[in-house]
Parts: sequence; C-alpha cells; structure tokens
Amino acid sequence: MNVGIIGSGTMGSGIAQVAATAGCSVELYDTNQAALDKAKASLEKILNRLIEKGRIDAEEKNRIQSNIRYVDSLKALADSNLTIEAIVENIDIKKKVFSELESYVADDCIIASNTSSLSIASIASSLQKPERCIGIHFFNPAPLMKLVEVIPAVQTSKAVLDKSVETIKSWKKTVAVAKDTPGFIVNRVARPFYGEALRIYEEGIADFETIDHSLKTLGGFRMGPFELMDFIGNDVNYTVTETVFTAFYFDPRYKPSFTQKRLSEAGYLGRKFGKGYYDYDQNGKIINTCHPELDSGSREDLAQTIFDRVLVMLINEAADALFLNIASAEDIDNAMTKGVNYPKGLLAWADEKGIDWCVVKLDELYNEYHEDRYRCSPLLRKMNKENKTFF
Ligand code: NAI
Repeated sequence: MNVGIIGSGTMGSGIAQVAATAGCSVELYDTNQAALDKAKASLEKILNRLIEKGRIDAEEKNRIQSNIRYVDSLKALADSNLTIEAIVENIDIKKKVFSELESYVADDCIIASNTSSLSIASIASSLQKPERCIGIHFFNPAPLMKLVEVIPAVQTSKAVLDKSVETIKSWKKTVAVAKDTPGFIVNRVARPFYGEALRIYEEGIADFETIDHSLKTLGGFRMGPFELMDFIGNDVNYTVTETVFTAFYFDPRYKPSFTQKRLSEAGYLGRKFGKGYYDYDQNGKIINTCHPELDSGSREDLAQTIFDRVLVMLINEAADALFLNIASAEDIDNAMTKGVNYPKGLLAWADEKGIDWCVVKLDELYNEYHEDRYRCSPLLRKMNKENKTFF
C-alpha cells in the first residue's frame, strides 16, 4: 500500500514509522526541509535504539528506512492509496492543502486527517469527493501508543470507514471508532481528570501533591493530573480544554480553570520549561515537593474523597459518551486504556464500583454544589434502576 503523510513533525514522522514498519511504501512530505531532515535523523536514532534493545535487527532497520521517502512536493503523493495529514492545527491551512492534494491523487485515494480538535465534516467539505475523507487520530508517540481513533464524518462513505479501520488494524493498532464530535473519545472523556483535580485544588481541599498522590496510589494512574499537565504542557492542555469547552457550547462540565490559565500566561508551562505546578531540575525531575504523608486517618480519608470524586466524574463522562453514541462501550474503554494508559477502562471500573455507587456519589456532588457540571448521566441513572452493568 502507498501511504502519503503530510507534515513531518512529531506526529507525521511517528505515523510514517508505523506505516513503514507495517510494510507500506511511504512518502513523507513537509514544506520545511529542516523538519524533513529532523524526521530522518530522529528515525535513525529510534531504530538504532531498537537495535540496542534487541527489538529489531539491522536488516529490519534498513527495510523500514527504505520504505520511507522524504519529499518536498505534495505532487509526490500522487500514487497514494491513503494519505494522512498531520500539519499545523489550522482549519484554513488544512482545507487548502486537502483541496490541492485532491487534484493530484486518484479518485479512490482515502484522504485522512490526524487533527485532535477540528471537525472532520468541516475538513471534508474542502474536497470534491468528501466521502473519501475521514479522521485517523494517532496518539503521541504514535509508534508506542496502541490506540488510533477513526472518525467518520457525516460525508464519509461506509467503504472508506471499513478500509480505514482494516488498514489501521493491519498496522497492529487498536482502533476505536468515534463520532465526529469535539475531543472524539479520549480528549473528551479525559477532561475531568484535569478539570476536577483543578477544581478540588481551587476549592482549597488539597494541594497538587496530595491530589496527584491520591490518584496514583488509590487509582493506579501512572501520573497524577498535575504531573501530567506539566508533562503535556499547560499551554497545550489549557488550549485543548478551552477548545472542547467552546465546541460544546460552553457546557459547564468542560469549563477551563483560571489556575491553569494563569500558569500558562505566566509561562509556567511545565516540565520542559523547568516550572509548572511543580519545579523541575535540568533532568526533568520534580524538586522541592514535600511528599504528602497520607498515613494518618484524616489524610487517608482526604485521599479517598479526592480519588472518588475524580473517578466518578471520569465515569460519568464515559457513560455520557456511550449515552450519546459517541462510541461503543468496548471502544470507550479501549480508548482510555490504550490511548492514555488508564489502569482500567472507566466503564469496567463503574461496574466494579457499582452503578449505584456512581449515582449516589454524583448526586452527592450535585446536591452540594447545585451545578450542572455534576449532573449524573441519564444512562447511569437508568442502568441503576434496571440493575444493569456495562459489560
Ligand atoms: P508539529 O508542529 O510537530 O508538525 C507539523 C509539521 O507540519 C511541521 O513540520 C510543519 O513544517 C509542517 N507543515 C505545516 N504546514 C504545512 C503545510 N501547509 N504543508 C506541509 N507541511 C506543513 O505538529 P504535531 O504535533 O505533529 O501535530 C500535527 C497534527 O497532529 C495537528 O493537527 C495536531 O492537532 C495533531 N495531533 C497532535 C498530537 C500531539 O500530541 N502533538 C496528538 C494527536 C494529534
């Protein structure tokens, strides 16, 4: 299969590696020669590391490298069966590139976008044949993260959806099919992990360390929300939140936080910048934190309260995504475990805690705050009445 990748930055170069490893012939295109050079050099480094670790041999390295050509003209993608665009997140620029690309490729070439936040329907509208357009959304780093969200637009044909799913599965990825709605699955369902943690902090219930500690120890999350926001970058994470909030017509469930906005404005962007919620040394290690002592009774209770509150808000978001047919229950759970390494799928977690537990916890929050943000998903309420579980 011939695959054209547009944009050789973080995502484009990773996707090119995945496709080339799967045996596709890849044309990797960028307008910026330096970006192409960097992509080539970084692949060389990655493959050498894989050799050192004994995962591949020199022959395999050569095979992967020879499957990729670095090109500086969009026309070079003319023979592609599938193109995946991973350029700057700007709808006008994407539309322009899509429209030009369509004039070069064959009628049956699938034209996909790796966008995180733009509507696929809107991108597809730039094409003469919008039915060939689809969202194929990888996670960073693309070669390591198992999940790929596949997002058909209203215009997308069933054949294009089926072919896309089949192709991405053949690249040894787990596919979750999502509706063309803001944040798709992961970037929607994950919002409370950050938002509720920030809210708990803003109410003065606990500090960053305590919140992170409770999510890690009681929930088994690899990173706490504040560590993770610092890792992602407060500017990037804030922008995603604001985009999702706006795109959902200001649903209070997705409301951004002033704490994060101010940090972002101050330039305290996180780990790479030496300062975010935490201070970091030159190696990116957190310095100056007092490790919270959670062994006394009341501290343990506090940790449990924090964990329960964030978890139930995540479960509510996952349940509501199912309620609104954003994706299947299996795909929602796979998305969170394989796209952002959650220790468990949220719907399976809801089953484990009990649907009645979820409803009671959410109603407690709603009764305390009287904010729409804490409304329980109608699906959870219905399932509770009918004594049902997700799986
Ligand atoms: P990046 O900034 O690392 O790379 C973008 C590349 O596109 C640059 O090399 C740039 O020179 C090139 N480019 C810009 N305009 C171009 C044009 N008109 N024609 C050809 N090349 C052009 O960006 P990144 O992070 O790789 O993101 C790319 C896309 O992937 C965006 O749509 C983003 O939302 C999405 N995405 C990003 C993720 C991430 O974690 N970085 C995760 C999933 C999706």
